[in-house]
Amino acid sequence: MCGIVGYIGEQQAAPVLLDGLAKLEYRGYDSAGIAVYNGHEIEMVKSVGRLKVLSELTHDGTTLVGKSGIGHTRWATHGSPSNDNAHPHYNKDGSIVVVHNGIIENYMKIRKMLQNKGYEFNSDTDTEVVAHLLDYYYTGSPLSTIIKVLQRIEGSYALGIMFKEFPEQVFAVRKDSPLIVGHTKDGNILASDVPAVLKYTRSVYFIENYEIVCLEKDKMTFYNIDEDELEKEPTTIEWDVAAAEKGGYEHYMLKEMYEQPKAVKDTIYPSDSRIVDGRVVIKELSMSDEDIKNIKKIYIVACGSAYHAGVTGKYVIEGLTRIPVEVDLASEFRYRSPIYEDNSIVIIISQSGETADSLAALRDAREHGVRVLGIVNVVGSSIAREADSVMYTWAGPEIAVATTKAYSAQLIALYLLGMNFAQVRNTITEDKMSSLIKDLAKLPDQIEMLLASKEKVQRFANRYIAAQNVFFIGRGIDYAISLEASLKLKEISYIHSEAYAAGELKHGTISLIEEGTLVSAVLTQEHLYKKTISNMVEVRSRGAFVLAVTTEGNTEVEKAADYVIYIPQTNEYFTNSLAIIPLQLFGYYVAVGKGCDVDKPRNLAKSVTVE
Ligand code: M6R
Repeated sequence: MCGIVGYIGEQQAAPVLLDGLAKLEYRGYDSAGIAVYNGHEIEMVKSVGRLKVLSELTHDGTTLVGKSGIGHTRWATHGSPSNDNAHPHYNKDGSIVVVHNGIIENYMKIRKMLQNKGYEFNSDTDTEVVAHLLDYYYTGSPLSTIIKVLQRIEGSYALGIMFKEFPEQVFAVRKDSPLIVGHTKDGNILASDVPAVLKYTRSVYFIENYEIVCLEKDKMTFYNIDEDELEKEPTTIEWDVAAAEKGGYEHYMLKEMYEQPKAVKDTIYPSDSRIVDGRVVIKELSMSDEDIKNIKKIYIVACGSAYHAGVTGKYVIEGLTRIPVEVDLASEFRYRSPIYEDNSIVIIISQSGETADSLAALRDAREHGVRVLGIVNVVGSSIAREADSVMYTWAGPEIAVATTKAYSAQLIALYLLGMNFAQVRNTITEDKMSSLIKDLAKLPDQIEMLLASKEKVQRFANRYIAAQNVFFIGRGIDYAISLEASLKLKEISYIHSEAYAAGELKHGTISLIEEGTLVSAVLTQEHLYKKTISNMVEVRSRGAFVLAVTTEGNTEVEKAADYVIYIPQTNEYFTNSLAIIPLQLFGYYVAVGKGCDVDKPRNLAKSVTVE
């Protein structure tokens, strides 16, 4: 989604803004713009397309001279990508400029009101109403003007604002869209996401809903909506700069796939290890044994790949603990008036911790008095802060839009949770627990081994760059793996693909199979091998080319497949962590072969902060 950056200090602002926006490119955007106070007025440059264009237009920022400014990358929601719709937006004489991430939901009503009062609009965006409203309510005091505007606008927003009359100040405020600020060595910076500021500071302040911050060259002041000053504590970001850079890899996605062994290891054994003396210990759960024994139902709620991790979580947690688990898409859950059973808990899974639908689901659960556990990657994100407790996945910064390492870390968090609950509820023997812990410990090396055979997958993928349709089938956990494998392929290669529960094909979808259609079958659950093999035979006899991903030793599958990829032996609950690796590589190499923009697929954003 959109990215915002702001700077005020001793340096020239434009290069800092361009650099910050470049670090937010991964969020997805289709136009960009910056505004800088040049000593007389606020000067703006905007462009459609990649940031490169904006850098060229401003000679890497050198033609915009001034030490305070705001910048924006826009992911179009209201109005097509165009110069007029690109941010910053401004009032009639350009003395107030605004950048915005989020959606102003009541913008139509405000726009009409302002038009009736003679305001003219230059864009189709929801954001432009904020610039004109600031003008309309302008009192001479930026703070009180901003507060008046906040009382009129509805929706989600992180706003960066400059007033020509107050060139020594840059303002920012947020509601339901992320916003951070930090001191640099010679000024102050604001952004919608951590990577934009990492080069300048590791100590950041997370702005809460309806908090307003005023950045000056040498200080930052925080206010609440009553204009009272607030004391805030900074949070230290542990990620290092290199973790958010490409480090010699062709794409972030490839680098992040290669970071999976570490992400998995760090999630099992963070500094406060989650395995202690043969037991799974998750201190941050802050639930007593009694609380865990009393759980009657678990709802897992998430979007996209995080939802797919949740589908695996259902099989694992139900299998280990016999607690019923319902998995829901957050966008559905939030509007279906879920029936919360007594003694239930909600688990929200999210890499970014900012996904709008997941956040809304969290709030719904909490409003109903249900305990919420967040499984989150980004430290200090909204979901992490609003959940009753948070179990971090230690995958480090994930930049590629297509998630890989964060997904792998989410799986681990869910395994650990299932094991912990099983141990407390006595639904697992000591022998079984120690064998699970041993198998868990082997996963990082096994993933590394699978990554090492990437050339084999690449050769196979090269044959499918012209594919029109691909199907992924499996049963149980293998179905969950198929869901994720299918999303990986389609989101970056633009090849239509679908995941199907293998037994469901013959209820309609099998009619799509024709000569040469690629069907990828996942077989890692021994008790289901025979059933899925029958489904492979069914599609193969209708002309499909069958790729099988299965566990070493299951050579029986060869008679029903055209190509087989073996994964190492592991516990039946952990197979997703291994089987997904060649399938991620497959999606990646098909997309690379087609020349797609792998890290920034069209129409997609890394962090979906609007519903
Ligand atoms: O940040 P989140 O984990 O909440 O994001 C959820 C989905 O938007 C995300 O997993 C998306 O599906 C990815 N592009 C998949 O690769």
